[in-house]
Amino acid sequence: TRCDIGFIGLGVMGKNLVLNLADNGYSIAAFDLDNEKVKAVIAQDKFESKSDNARVVGCSSYTELLSKLKTPHLIVLSVPAGAPVDQVCESLIGGGVQPDDIVIDTGNSLWVDTVKREEKYKNNFILFSSAVSGGEVGARFGPALMPSGSAYAWTRIQPIWEAISAKVDSVTGKPLERTKPGEVVNEGEPCTTYIGPAGAGHYVKMVHNGIEYADMQIICEAYQVLRDGLKLSAEEIADIFAQWNKGPLNSYLMEISVDVLRHKIDVDGKQIPLVDVILDKAGQKGTGLWTAMSSLELGTPAPTISQAVYARSISSMKNIRVQASELLIGPETLSLSEEEKQSFIKNLHDAVYCSKICAYAQGFQLMKQAENEHGWTLNFSSIAKIWRAGCIIRAAFLQSITAAFERNEQLENLLLDPYFVEQLNNNQLNWRQAISTISLMGIPAGALSSSLSYFDSMRSNVLPANLLQGQRDYFGAHTFERVDKAAGKKYHVEWATADKEMKQVE
Ligand code: 6PG
Repeated sequence: TRCDIGFIGLGVMGKNLVLNLADNGYSIAAFDLDNEKVKAVIAQDKFESKSDNARVVGCSSYTELLSKLKTPHLIVLSVPAGAPVDQVCESLIGGGVQPDDIVIDTGNSLWVDTVKREEKYKNNFILFSSAVSGGEVGARFGPALMPSGSAYAWTRIQPIWEAISAKVDSVTGKPLERTKPGEVVNEGEPCTTYIGPAGAGHYVKMVHNGIEYADMQIICEAYQVLRDGLKLSAEEIADIFAQWNKGPLNSYLMEISVDVLRHKIDVDGKQIPLVDVILDKAGQKGTGLWTAMSSLELGTPAPTISQAVYARSISSMKNIRVQASELLIGPETLSLSEEEKQSFIKNLHDAVYCSKICAYAQGFQLMKQAENEHGWTLNFSSIAKIWRAGCIIRAAFLQSITAAFERNEQLENLLLDPYFVEQLNNNQLNWRQAISTISLMGIPAGALSSSLSYFDSMRSNVLPANLLQGQRDYFGAHTFERVDKAAGKKYHVEWATADKEMKQVE
């Protein structure tokens, strides 16, 4: 009998997605250019299913893969973004893929590449895209999936995607855990929803990753402040984060930070925290950068996300930082009483929370702007819903965002939602106190402080752009509007003349 699904690319994510599909009753024909990976997934399937009745069959070529599938073929790709996706698409054409076959790209492709590819291959097969979030464990036991492309293809993919995705309890919004091979969850709301036409799903996944960068950086800044400002050990910081993880900051990223901070290794016979020997140079594969670039292109500020990208870049300039650390001085050590330390930790918590709200507000507003720009119809409460479980930014907090968009689907920015207004108003003073102390400590906190600037800019009904318009008019006759005259009327001052005459120009 022929298999339900063809799977290409058996790296960590691919292998786990195959096993997840198999647990949900789908038979798979699997292929990878590296035959060892094909053997590994078959062995793992046999081991987990405790049977020789293989749910996964190995293939050694694209043609063989296609010959083992039911028609029209349904093929899932898990290959690195960029050129490898095109290589596989071309190979499938060579292998005899048909125009009504569906090929799903699950990688983190750049969304504009997806739009171009869908067009490029439309006479050869239907290219569908569906980014996957949740890392290896998510892929194995339930990721968040962000599908987009042909609506027809989605009718075929939907039951499969709903089966393998993470699920949340429909009343509480809490994840329904699935942790063991063979286990499936058939109840609750699936963490997948059709996002829109070609590219929309990859755009939404890109913004998910931008928010992920911001969320991670915010936690890392709190860690540095506690480490360098309060001189706390990794274990003590883990205790604080574990406490924070019980309240509104409860999230997967907070939880794993606690685990990383607590992990000890043996160095020369001594148990030391692993984190103390990890080199402080961050890697990045591009999705955060793309989010920041898109925010600049669309003129929709995402400073917390951009700062998180900059923070990774500056971390990688280790040599220059080491040189500069010998030359540039910081403030004298701030000495805080035990009581002051405790209230500072409370303020820092609120700073993290408010900054996180700003990062999500930026990400959602960016998606809203992209929706207008590209003529998509995005459903923001559904997007917040599918991020409640499975993905890397999963958090209790996403339930509040879901509720905000359910209250008002047209909400322009989370900062205008009554719940978030209250949260920010109640915590803003502590946030400011934390930022001022951090600044006196001389510790960088770009994400925490740029979020505060974002908050203050957003709540300013008058910004200094009046002077800026004056400057532009002075050197370039760029004109300005006046608050005391009809909107849209442009004025210019003859700055070079003695009488500086002002004229209405349009
Ligand atoms: C996820 C992750 C995943 C991956 C990113 C981040 O949602 O499961 O975002 O897609 O970890 O590629 O990678 P970098 O930090 O290397 O940019």
